[in-house]
Amino acid sequence: MATVTTTTTTSTSTNGPPPPKTIQPPPIIPATSRLFKPLQVGKMQLDHRIVFPPLTRNRNADDHTPLPFMVKYYADRASTPGTLVISEATAVSHLEEGQDNTPGFVSERQVAAWKQIIDAVHAKGSYYFQQIWGMGRASFPEFMAKKGLKYRSSSAVPMAGVDAVPEEMTEDEIQEIIQSFVDTARRVIAAGGDGVEIHCAHGYLLDQFLSDAVNKRTDKWGGSTENRARLVLEVVKAVVDAVGADRVALRLSPYAAFQDAEKGDIHGQYLYIINELKKMPAPLAYLSLVEATGDPGALIFGGKSVNQGRTLDFILEAWDNWSPVIVAGGYTPATAGWAVEEHYGKWDTLVAFGRHFLANPDLVFRIRNGIELNKYNRPTFYLAKNEVGYNDYPFSDEYLATHAKP
Ligand code: PHB
Repeated sequence: MATVTTTTTTSTSTNGPPPPKTIQPPPIIPATSRLFKPLQVGKMQLDHRIVFPPLTRNRNADDHTPLPFMVKYYADRASTPGTLVISEATAVSHLEEGQDNTPGFVSERQVAAWKQIIDAVHAKGSYYFQQIWGMGRASFPEFMAKKGLKYRSSSAVPMAGVDAVPEEMTEDEIQEIIQSFVDTARRVIAAGGDGVEIHCAHGYLLDQFLSDAVNKRTDKWGGSTENRARLVLEVVKAVVDAVGADRVALRLSPYAAFQDAEKGDIHGQYLYIINELKKMPAPLAYLSLVEATGDPGALIFGGKSVNQGRTLDFILEAWDNWSPVIVAGGYTPATAGWAVEEHYGKWDTLVAFGRHFLANPDLVFRIRNGIELNKYNRPTFYLAKNEVGYNDYPFSDEYLATHAKP
């Protein structure tokens, strides 16, 4: 999981929906709801708009290779055909494998292990995107030191609560990381993945360039809205050139204060990115946006999660359905129905459920049929290399009575 700092970014206002703590049976969402309407996303023909989002789970081996039991976890969550399954964040180079038991997509062993997962998701009739990232200063400094790797970021600005100062990345290192994103995207596609989601959120490496709280550079990679956005835009363009726009997605978390990656001018910074992306010759497969209520700083530590009237509307308006948008952050089945039908009803929107999907392998079936959800168990979210809290959440009796054994 992410570095545990004392700066949990809980907020005091209560005018947004808190994340659910107890699980109610979902209301019956009419089968006619847009939530269950098929949608073309990139090259994929999704059967509905409920998405399994990227979730760090620490079930990889010490060499950052997926453990074999991860195949079942991903395949189970792909059990409703036509579901989009997105992998946990995966390092684009060994230099970015900065926390214990998180994965990479670099070595032959890693690629072979992921290929089994990709094949298993496809065997269920579902689709698969690999989320790819660098961790930068969100790596654990002691872990990096032990491996003899440089602890680095956009600038030499430490993260609150972490007793280490990252080194500012050099021009060569920046060029190398762009190439690492490209090489990894190629490996994902060669392994059969449907696409890659570039992680520019939550204070990880690309977000460390975007944030004026972290990025203090005075070269072309910092110092202005345009310069802070340069790295993510160059990465997106290079990856699009390599694998095609319809196989590339981008994740952004405009409001997250997690790992101190705030932005002073949120609207200006993100609208610049959106407008630049829209100048590209073809749309990305999708844009993934985290609601203010989805800030991991609040969610991971069980804090209060609020939106304070901060919405994603300005981005959706600017994007204006250039391609579909996935929203995430504290949604319930009922609010998801409301989001796709009403709040974001003008656009093609999908909703991701992290905690509910990890606890309910048949989440899509349950929502469609109004079946009570399993409760998630937070203490086992990050139980390293352990199947407890991972492959032991049951399918519903209703699912088991009507389907072959998963
Ligand atoms: C985490 O490891 O806690 C984590 C990873 C990726 C995210 C958010 C949180 O986007």
